[in-house]
Amino acid sequence: MYQEEQVKQLLATSLEWLKAIGSAALAEKLGTETNQLRNILRFHEYRYYNQNDPIISDTEYDQLYKLLEQYEKLHPETITPDSPTQRVGKGLIKDFPKVQHLVPMLSLENSYDADDLLDWDRKAREGSGLPVIEYCVEPKFDGASISLIYENDLFTRGATRGDGVTGDEITINTKQIKSLPLSAIFGEWGIQQIEIRGEVLMNKNNFKAYNEGLMEEGLPPLANPRNAAAGSLRIKDTAVVGKRNLEAFLYHVSYLAADTTATNTRKMPSTHSGMIEMLWSLGFKSPKNEIRVLKGIDQVIAYVQDFEMKRDALPYEIDGMVIKVNDLALQEKLGMTSHHPRWAIAFKFKARQASSQLLEVEYQVGRTGAVTPVAKIAPVNVGGVTVSSISIHNEEYIKEKNLLLGDHILIERAGDVIPQIVKSFPELRKGAEKSIQFPTSCPVCDHPLFKTADEAVWRCTNINCRAQVIERIIHFVSKDAMDIRSFGDANVRKFYEMGFLKDIPGIYQLPFDQIRQLEGFGGKSIQNLQLAIEASKTQPLHRIIYGLGIRYVGETTAKTLANAVDHLLDFSRFSIEELQALEDVGIKVANSIQAFFSDAENLTLLKKLEALGIGLKNEMKEFHPDAALVGKTFLFTGTLTRLKRSEAEEKVELNGGKILGGVSSKLDYLVVGEEAGSKLEKAKKIATINIISEEEFIKMLPS
Ligand code: IVH
Repeated sequence: MYQEEQVKQLLATSLEWLKAIGSAALAEKLGTETNQLRNILRFHEYRYYNQNDPIISDTEYDQLYKLLEQYEKLHPETITPDSPTQRVGKGLIKDFPKVQHLVPMLSLENSYDADDLLDWDRKAREGSGLPVIEYCVEPKFDGASISLIYENDLFTRGATRGDGVTGDEITINTKQIKSLPLSAIFGEWGIQQIEIRGEVLMNKNNFKAYNEGLMEEGLPPLANPRNAAAGSLRIKDTAVVGKRNLEAFLYHVSYLAADTTATNTRKMPSTHSGMIEMLWSLGFKSPKNEIRVLKGIDQVIAYVQDFEMKRDALPYEIDGMVIKVNDLALQEKLGMTSHHPRWAIAFKFKARQASSQLLEVEYQVGRTGAVTPVAKIAPVNVGGVTVSSISIHNEEYIKEKNLLLGDHILIERAGDVIPQIVKSFPELRKGAEKSIQFPTSCPVCDHPLFKTADEAVWRCTNINCRAQVIERIIHFVSKDAMDIRSFGDANVRKFYEMGFLKDIPGIYQLPFDQIRQLEGFGGKSIQNLQLAIEASKTQPLHRIIYGLGIRYVGETTAKTLANAVDHLLDFSRFSIEELQALEDVGIKVANSIQAFFSDAENLTLLKKLEALGIGLKNEMKEFHPDAALVGKTFLFTGTLTRLKRSEAEEKVELNGGKILGGVSSKLDYLVVGEEAGSKLEKAKKIATINIISEEEFIKMLPS
């Protein structure tokens, strides 16, 4: 889309704008060159969202964006409909009106194996009279389909698929997909109006983060990214849609109207792959790098089968491949049925859904006392993994999914997502099914269960409940907390049941003489456990905080908290306001932290830990002023040989440095391991980044 020369020019212009901020000349520059500023912002959005390759930092982009926003506020008459500020909607959407697609959105015929494809190819060859057909093969993106209309170069309408003939108008929400241009120069191609089809996705990383957020709120996670994408498009608060980080691939032009007055226009492509190229060159995220043009069905079969094996390595979910006749004239000739085109077919991958039966429900008590129902189901293989139990989250979820004991159910295991129940089949009930009776007392200690009005979760409020105590200890020793490696879940349970371990401080007072007598605890394993426990005493403060399992305090908040004090017990003197002043600490989190540190039992526990030699001081903070890496930013790429990636990152943080998420002009050091890839290439283009080896990095650390 942007040529090399243009990229240089746009970057130089961006830097000029950044430099002008705060200068006396800025006001005039803004007034006369507003469109240049808009173009620069579009360019950086393209680099970030379409190419995944930003060349200025997020803060720099924000500065430029704010500049335009402020100017437009003062001069609203200058706002253009495709200004980068125009993605934001105002207020809540009332409803999504029904709109008719210019051309009905058809489905695809499905195929499941080589024979199906051979059959389909034979028909296509017969229909065309050709001995061999050229196909374009692309991923079948597993999201929500959308239809976009552009008129006279401007984006005018976005709609869901609906029933294929009419869909819901979701124009404002569609604008939240930042890779979609609000305008494109279709005029150059002699196009006055165009309808484009594509798929909206939530990528695996964003989906994982989204589900984690839901679970932290005590809400059930979604079964798959497809539901997350489809649901997000129908949210009535546009700002929330924007936060979902949706992406879209545009893969089909369904309707074109020529601009009859246009002259000297570019020649329209005659192939599907050519159309994909055209969309790409117009600034759309089309699957240009994902498609493959192949001659004859044999090559196609080999390619799609091979692709299925790589499915898990993709950053987004796909549920198969789509094979399309590449020649558009031939597509026309083959035509369509009322249901699907004859020139395309989907090759479906192994299903990640399977049906099973709900046999019984067990209840687990977590470290916060939350009682989670777990469905025991008839074991079933889903995408290569046998599933026999599934969390069903809470009482409300059981109602929502309409679950009865004995029900037939559909389950799904999307990628590396934990399996979920998609739905039950009430229509298959025989009458012997039984309702699920949620317990009223703790299944472990029999204490009555309690539920607050704003939560869906029932809790055991007996702080000494055996299950809670064990789970709290398991969490404290876990990898992301104190990382006491030889201390698996099984040992915690065993030592607890034998009376050797009653609480967290007990970890540091284990009667090793007695444990040594137990079967399976030979000299070596005991020694390893003792060493690991000893080593954990000097873990950084944020790991202790995380290990305490304070509600709503995840690893990130734990780091923020650790940096805010000299000693952990200082928090007992923090006000709610002081807590809320910390990064990303809202009222809910602040309340939870304060409740923890005003509880006498918790303070006693912390003092006990300190007396046992566990450091509660913020060593890092004392280290800070002259720490080796203070104020420096780092990123690691490739395989490190001497340190583990997590160890190296921890060393950076321990010495006052910061880890960045990607290569940008904010980065000071890129540490390059073996087989480094695109990050290295990108860093080479930014002169201010120091590219160093692992050895050089280690030398920077204090010995
Ligand atoms: S082409 C007229 N290409 O799959 C042909 N569809 O099961 C229109 N899909 O409704 C469809 N990836 O939502 C096409 N690369 C791709 C696709 C794709 C995903 C979806 C699309 C369609 C559904 C049919």
